[in-house]
Amino acid sequence: MDAVWNTRYHTGIQLIDEQHKELFSTVNQLRRSVQAGGDREAIGLLLEGLLEASARHFTTEEAYMAEHGYPDLAQHVAEHVAMLTSLKELHTKFLESHHTLALMVPTFMEGWFKHHISDGDFGFVTFLKARGVV
Ligand SMILES: [Fe+2]
Ligand SMILES: [Fe+2]
Repeated sequence: MDAVWNTRYHTGIQLIDEQHKELFSTVNQLRRSVQAGGDREAIGLLLEGLLEASARHFTTEEAYMAEHGYPDLAQHVAEHVAMLTSLKELHTKFLESHHTLALMVPTFMEGWFKHHISDGDFGFVTFLKARGVV
Protein backbone atom coordinates (compact mmCIF):
# COMPACT_ATOMS: atom_id res chain seq x y z
CA MET A 1 0.00 0.00 0.00
CA ASP A 2 1.23 3.48 -0.81
CA ALA A 3 2.59 5.83 1.81
CA VAL A 4 0.07 8.67 1.78
CA TRP A 5 1.12 12.28 2.29
CA ASN A 6 -1.67 13.92 4.24
CA THR A 7 -2.28 17.20 6.00
CA ARG A 8 -0.72 16.05 9.23
CA TYR A 9 2.59 16.29 7.38
CA HIS A 10 1.83 19.80 6.14
CA THR A 11 4.39 22.19 7.62
CA GLY A 12 3.35 25.28 5.65
CA ILE A 13 6.93 25.83 4.41
CA GLN A 14 6.51 25.26 0.71
CA LEU A 15 9.98 23.98 -0.14
CA ILE A 16 9.97 21.51 2.75
CA ASP A 17 6.47 20.27 1.92
CA GLU A 18 7.50 19.77 -1.71
CA GLN A 19 10.60 17.84 -0.69
CA HIS A 20 8.61 15.64 1.71
CA LYS A 21 6.12 14.91 -1.08
CA GLU A 22 9.01 14.00 -3.37
CA LEU A 23 10.26 11.49 -0.78
CA PHE A 24 6.78 9.93 -0.46
CA SER A 25 6.46 9.72 -4.21
CA THR A 26 9.88 8.09 -4.68
CA VAL A 27 9.16 5.55 -1.94
CA ASN A 28 5.86 4.66 -3.62
CA GLN A 29 7.49 4.33 -7.04
CA LEU A 30 10.10 2.08 -5.49
CA ARG A 31 7.55 -0.22 -3.87
CA ARG A 32 5.45 -0.42 -7.02
CA SER A 33 8.49 -1.17 -9.12
CA VAL A 34 9.62 -4.05 -6.86
CA GLN A 35 6.08 -5.45 -6.61
CA ALA A 36 5.65 -5.28 -10.37
CA GLY A 37 8.84 -7.31 -10.78
CA GLY A 38 10.84 -4.34 -12.04
CA ASP A 39 14.40 -5.03 -13.01
CA ARG A 40 17.29 -4.63 -10.67
CA GLU A 41 18.72 -1.63 -12.47
CA ALA A 42 15.48 0.38 -12.37
CA ILE A 43 15.04 -0.38 -8.67
CA GLY A 44 18.65 0.53 -7.99
CA LEU A 45 18.16 3.89 -9.68
CA LEU A 46 15.07 4.61 -7.57
CA LEU A 47 17.02 3.76 -4.42
CA GLU A 48 19.85 6.03 -5.44
CA GLY A 49 17.32 8.76 -6.23
CA LEU A 50 15.82 8.35 -2.78
CA LEU A 51 19.23 8.67 -1.15
CA GLU A 52 19.97 11.83 -3.13
CA ALA A 53 16.56 13.39 -2.48
CA SER A 54 16.90 12.65 1.24
CA ALA A 55 20.38 14.17 1.44
CA ARG A 56 19.20 17.27 -0.47
CA HIS A 57 16.19 17.62 1.80
CA PHE A 58 18.32 17.37 4.93
CA THR A 59 20.67 20.04 3.63
CA THR A 60 17.66 22.36 3.15
CA GLU A 61 16.32 21.75 6.64
CA GLU A 62 19.70 22.06 8.30
CA ALA A 63 20.34 25.39 6.53
CA TYR A 64 17.02 26.76 7.87
CA MET A 65 17.85 25.59 11.38
CA ALA A 66 21.43 26.87 11.35
CA GLU A 67 20.44 30.25 9.91
CA HIS A 68 17.89 30.86 12.65
CA GLY A 69 19.73 29.37 15.61
CA TYR A 70 17.42 26.44 16.25
CA PRO A 71 18.50 25.11 19.67
CA ASP A 72 17.90 21.41 18.89
CA LEU A 73 19.91 21.50 15.66
CA ALA A 74 22.49 18.91 16.77
CA GLN A 75 19.82 16.39 17.79
CA HIS A 76 17.95 16.93 14.53
CA VAL A 77 21.10 16.55 12.43
CA ALA A 78 21.93 13.34 14.33
CA GLU A 79 18.56 11.91 13.28
CA HIS A 80 19.27 12.84 9.65
CA VAL A 81 22.70 11.22 9.78
CA ALA A 82 21.25 8.04 11.34
CA MET A 83 18.56 7.89 8.69
CA LEU A 84 21.06 8.23 5.82
CA THR A 85 23.24 5.55 7.42
CA SER A 86 20.28 3.15 7.62
CA LEU A 87 19.22 3.92 4.06
CA LYS A 88 22.76 3.31 2.79
CA GLU A 89 22.86 0.00 4.67
CA LEU A 90 19.58 -1.03 3.04
CA HIS A 91 20.98 -0.02 -0.33
CA THR A 92 24.06 -2.20 0.29
CA LYS A 93 21.84 -5.15 1.30
CA PHE A 94 19.89 -4.65 -1.91
CA LEU A 95 23.10 -4.68 -3.97
CA GLU A 96 24.34 -7.83 -2.25
CA SER A 97 21.15 -9.82 -2.32
CA HIS A 98 17.85 -10.43 -4.03
CA HIS A 99 16.25 -7.24 -5.30
CA THR A 100 13.02 -7.80 -3.36
CA LEU A 101 15.07 -6.73 -0.34
CA ALA A 102 14.41 -3.22 -1.62
CA LEU A 103 10.94 -3.65 -0.08
CA MET A 104 12.57 -3.10 3.30
CA VAL A 105 13.07 0.50 2.26
CA PRO A 106 9.41 1.57 2.02
CA THR A 107 8.74 -0.03 5.41
CA PHE A 108 11.70 1.79 6.91
CA MET A 109 10.74 5.09 5.27
CA GLU A 110 7.13 4.97 6.43
CA GLY A 111 8.29 4.62 10.03
CA TRP A 112 10.66 7.51 9.44
CA PHE A 113 7.93 9.75 7.96
CA LYS A 114 5.62 9.11 10.90
CA HIS A 115 8.25 9.62 13.55
CA HIS A 116 10.63 12.19 12.14
CA ILE A 117 8.32 14.54 10.23
CA SER A 118 5.68 14.57 12.97
CA ASP A 119 8.13 15.17 15.81
CA GLY A 120 11.49 16.39 14.58
CA ASP A 121 10.45 18.52 11.63
CA PHE A 122 7.46 20.07 13.35
CA GLY A 123 9.80 21.01 16.20
CA PHE A 124 11.88 23.37 14.10
CA VAL A 125 8.94 24.54 11.96
CA THR A 126 7.11 25.61 15.12
CA PHE A 127 10.27 27.40 16.26
CA LEU A 128 10.61 29.26 12.94
CA LYS A 129 6.93 30.23 12.91
CA ALA A 130 7.09 31.55 16.48
CA ARG A 131 9.85 33.89 15.32
CA GLY A 132 7.92 34.98 12.27
CA VAL A 133 10.56 33.55 9.94
CA VAL A 134 8.11 31.52 7.87
FE1 LIG B 1 11.96 16.62 6.74
FE1 LIG C 1 14.25 16.64 9.43
